[in-house]
Amino acid sequence: MSELTSIKSESCSICQGTGWDVAAAGGARRCHCALDSRGVRLLEKAGVPKRYESCDLNNYDGRHCESQGKAKMVATKFVEDFPVIDVGLLFLGPCGVGKTHLAVGIIKVLMLEKGIPCLFYDFRELIREIQNSYNPTAQTSEMKILTPVLESPVLVLDELGAAKPTHWVTDTITYVINRRYNDKRITIFTSNFLDNPAERGDETLTDRVGIRLRSRLYEMCHDVIISADDFRKKVRWKSAKFALE
Ligand SMILES: Nc1ncnc2c1ncn2[C@@H]1O[C@H](COP(=O)(O)OP(=O)(O)OP(=O)(O)O)[C@@H](O)[C@H]1O
Ligand SMILES: [Mg+2]
Ligand SMILES: [Zn+2]
Repeated sequence: MSELTSIKSESCSICQGTGWDVAAAGGARRCHCALDSRGVRLLEKAGVPKRYESCDLNNYDGRHCESQGKAKMVATKFVEDFPVIDVGLLFLGPCGVGKTHLAVGIIKVLMLEKGIPCLFYDFRELIREIQNSYNPTAQTSEMKILTPVLESPVLVLDELGAAKPTHWVTDTITYVINRRYNDKRITIFTSNFLDNPAERGDETLTDRVGIRLRSRLYEMCHDVIISADDFRKKVRWKSAKFALE
């Protein structure tokens, strides 16, 4: 029995529990009940942080800022076109503009509506888990951590460049990304580090990930630059105002 047919709903009035809609226009296809339960299982395994569970593309507000409006359009087109796409996305911008929100929104649609397995990793967390796996007393091996990261059809790597760029960190992440690049797997990145930071002297993305990886990213991703006010500040201001009233 396939994975999909094993998670169908026995009480479904469309497929009567087979997982196939045989009366669908254009021929038999997977019933929505099989896809729904698969999507929920994929989401449970994807590692999306609790704080972002309710983020989706519909509740991302792109009305008040041009770059956020564009970013939302790019994200929406990306999920519509998937899997007929060649490159991933690199969301760049300052804190609190919704980069992680959009990345999560994208993979939620891919999992829930298209049944595509996706994985979310914070960059520092990934580095920490790989480092821990070298510890002789660790319960996990390096490959146990790396295999899903290398093989997931879609990976979100959040906060690229946030870990201190030691030689080891740069080499490790370049290896991971290069493998995904060679295998033509789609990766969605977010980063606070820009190519042309507003303040002279601020570190660039190349400073944080190395010249080889930055060069790969140009080929692997479409850059989406968001420049807006920090949404978290706005929320804090609103709640402070509310408290005074
Ligand atoms: N345009 C928006 N519409 C709705 N919610 C937003 C928007 N922008 C940000 N948010 C919300 O603001 C909070 C911060 O957004 P998020 O964490 O995605 O920002 P970020 O750009 O990833 O920041 P950082 O660089 O600090 O990681 C989240 O709760 C997110 O849902
Ligand atoms: Mg973020
Ligand atoms: Zn069904």
